[in-house]
Amino acid sequence: MMTRDGKKVGGPVRGLSFKLITAIAFVILLVEVAVFFPSLANYRASWLDDRLRIGGVAVRVFDAVPDVMDLPVEITDPLLQSAGALAIVYRRAGQTDLIAIEGATMPAEAHLADMRDRNPVRLIMDATETLLLGGDRILRIVGVPPGAGDVVVEVLMPDGPLRADMLTYSGNILALSLIIAGVTAIVIYVLAESLLIAPIKRLTANVLAFRNNPENGTLIITPDPDRDDEIAVLEQALADTQAELFSMLRQRRHLADLGLAVAKINHDLRNMLTSAQLLSDQVATLDDPKVQRLAPRLVNTLDRAIGFAQSVLDYGRQQAGLPRPQPVGVRALGFESALAAGLAGHPVIRFDNRVGDDIVLELDPDHLGRVLVNLMKNAREALEAVDGKTTGPTVTLDAERSPGRTRLFLADNGPGLPPRARENLFVAFEGSARAGGTGLGLAIARELVTANGGELTLLETTTGATFALDFPTPTCA
Ligand SMILES: Nc1ncnc2c1ncn2[C@@H]1O[C@H](COP(=O)(O)OP(=O)(O)OP(=O)(O)O)[C@@H](O)[C@H]1O
Ligand SMILES: [Mg+2]
Repeated sequence: MMTRDGKKVGGPVRGLSFKLITAIAFVILLVEVAVFFPSLANYRASWLDDRLRIGGVAVRVFDAVPDVMDLPVEITDPLLQSAGALAIVYRRAGQTDLIAIEGATMPAEAHLADMRDRNPVRLIMDATETLLLGGDRILRIVGVPPGAGDVVVEVLMPDGPLRADMLTYSGNILALSLIIAGVTAIVIYVLAESLLIAPIKRLTANVLAFRNNPENGTLIITPDPDRDDEIAVLEQALADTQAELFSMLRQRRHLADLGLAVAKINHDLRNMLTSAQLLSDQVATLDDPKVQRLAPRLVNTLDRAIGFAQSVLDYGRQQAGLPRPQPVGVRALGFESALAAGLAGHPVIRFDNRVGDDIVLELDPDHLGRVLVNLMKNAREALEAVDGKTTGPTVTLDAERSPGRTRLFLADNGPGLPPRARENLFVAFEGSARAGGTGLGLAIARELVTANGGELTLLETTTGATFALDFPTPTCA
């Protein structure tokens, strides 16, 4: 399977199936190793217990005769041989008796296996030790066999047979483990393949195909109607998202086509208006008093119409230029913007820049400048529109720093936003509530703030209008 950038997904080594089957087999083997040592210790303990039990039988036989030494070899030797023992010693209340195979030489030293201590850890360690080091040692098995009362029985025997039996047992366990791990891994793999991996592969293939051609409606996934699990939910959600994306793209394309047509019409319209403007300029020079009265209004209307056509063209042409962040001193940028917005040096309106010199933000200065100019222009226009009704008309730029965030405020003490502007706040071409307004200023401002990682909001205030610009700022800066 390939992605659009030609990257390989899945394949024999990195695929989900391979990872799953190796992980399962590995875990099963790990569990079996963990189980193997206790079970080997158990096997050894019961092997030794068996030998002690034969020793216990011997005790009962010995008890039946007055003197152990009198027992004939024909009885003692088969008894010892059945346990594989060289000798059996039993101790009871200060008395010690021994029977040994006829002619057997007693070893100078023997390896002790005390079966009275049944600590599992010790049993596991002893079993491992027998497996690794045993084979040609003599064992001294000590224990109290069931039914032998308080008699302590010791069986002396070579440990070769024990080790051989343990090796056979381990071999069997190993073979069984491999079979169990293999069979379990295959069964789980087959189940996972049909329940999980196959649907995931189907989803992946579908997503890749759809991504390459999202305008092809036949590529929208059809959810499997027989499923009712998480995969079904995922398939349904994917189908919904793809359907939404499909129709959104179509709508976008239509809008783009329309936009293009509007732009062409608008372009021609602007040229026609410009010609009309030239004519109206000439008309304005005529001496007729009627013409003199009407001409300024005509010129004004044409100016506004051209301005409108121009800003629509500009909006359509606007490139989504990526922000080029750099440290920006907000106070200085505030003064610059006020100048561009016609606020600085205004005969009536005062511009109050309260931002400290230390407020420096990492963003595109051109973008923030355009945002401030748009907001300041709006404030100026609103204050001019109510000329005289506001005492001390002022536009204030301020900043507030909190951990991880810097908030800029642009406030005025004008009339506040009219309802029409509030209802379509930040919506291009819709938000204007003033004669001659295009309704682009706030929409563009928000677009630029968002592109720089910030957020532009209108605050709820009782008087005037206050816009807040929030920018995340690293706390260490
Ligand atoms: N500070 C403000 N005080 C009062 N009303 C405001 C303020 N800022 C914006 N508005 C209102 O919001 C509307 C939308 O503003 P916006 O800047 O988006 O468009 P515009 O100013 O009408 O046109 P332009 O595209 O030329 O900026 C304005 O028409 C105005 O009614
Ligand atoms: Mg505006």
